[in-house]
Amino acid sequence: MISLGIECTAHTFGVGIVDSDGKILANERDMYRPALGKGIIPTEAGEHHRKVSKQLFERALEKAGIKIEDVDVIAYSAGPGLPPALLAGFEFAESISKKYKKKLMPVNHPVAHLEIGKLTTNTKDPVYVYLSGGNTQIIAFAEGRYRIFGETEDITIGNCFDVFAREVGLPMPGGPEIEKIAKHGKYIELPYVVKGMDLSFSGILTKSRRLYEGGARKEDLAFSMQEVCFSMLAEVTERAVAHMDKKEVLLVGGVVANKRLQEIMGRMSEDRGAKMYVVPEEYSGDQGAMIAWVGILAYKSGWKDGVISKEKIDGKWRIDEVEITWKE
Ligand code: ATP
Ligand code: FE2
Repeated sequence: MISLGIECTAHTFGVGIVDSDGKILANERDMYRPALGKGIIPTEAGEHHRKVSKQLFERALEKAGIKIEDVDVIAYSAGPGLPPALLAGFEFAESISKKYKKKLMPVNHPVAHLEIGKLTTNTKDPVYVYLSGGNTQIIAFAEGRYRIFGETEDITIGNCFDVFAREVGLPMPGGPEIEKIAKHGKYIELPYVVKGMDLSFSGILTKSRRLYEGGARKEDLAFSMQEVCFSMLAEVTERAVAHMDKKEVLLVGGVVANKRLQEIMGRMSEDRGAKMYVVPEEYSGDQGAMIAWVGILAYKSGWKDGVISKEKIDGKWRIDEVEITWKE
């Protein structure tokens, strides 16, 4: 069986093709790039997706060496995300599903990040640390659902890095730039905020901004921002590992490319008798293969129309609302 997945929640439009053994046959993508120094404009992202969809769809089929007739299900990213971008993806998915008479399946984007992480690292039942531009969550599977153990109370970690980078004149995306300049920094105290299992990053951003305006070096602030944010995340992850008695920690999302984060999380996991895994870079950001793979999992476990989601798109669809039908 073959699934074709469409990713469309934010910057990226992607088309991935995966078979029922988890073999990734194609993973084509193209990114909307906002004007220099600007953030994402949702309607522009939607326009971008509409412009590239047909071409990427054809390229993915060609890469996979299959015809649309060979595909069993069209899975698309139904949320959470930016409504104009989601709508562009949905409309494209719906058009091909109608034209070629294929089943159309809405997929939750964060679930897809976790599942592709699990597939590509061969992990079984980890604590997931999901860090991206849109999400900062510590998650574990329990009783039929992905449960959120801890999450940000305000901005995401990716957002914290990106906004600070932009304000100190670094190119976008900011995360990798912060990592680069942090190598030449030393520690300045920033607010460490963990409340129970939840985290807060907005105080770190505000304080860093104020210190920068007061003459502090951006290298020192970048270094300190990394140390404080990653230590906070390690604290909450450690508690989830202990509480759930898990033996694996899996890092997913764009931010986990960060080597210092991997180092801190790796050490914490080892101390706890767990093993840390990192999703390969090719599958850490947004792409269609992860959506296609959830299409396979759900389909194989008896998915029928309308079971996963009530809506065509849902900009605020939370991971813990999804009933996971493919696990015991
Ligand atoms: P989602 O929709 O799942 O929230 P996203 O659209 O934010 O995903 P991702 O590619 O998962 O996309 O994550 C992008 C974020 O990762 C950006 O904020 C970027 O700055 C950050 N990032 C990328 N590389 C690094 C790095 N080496 N260190 C820190 N942050 C990084
Ligand atoms: Fe994502």
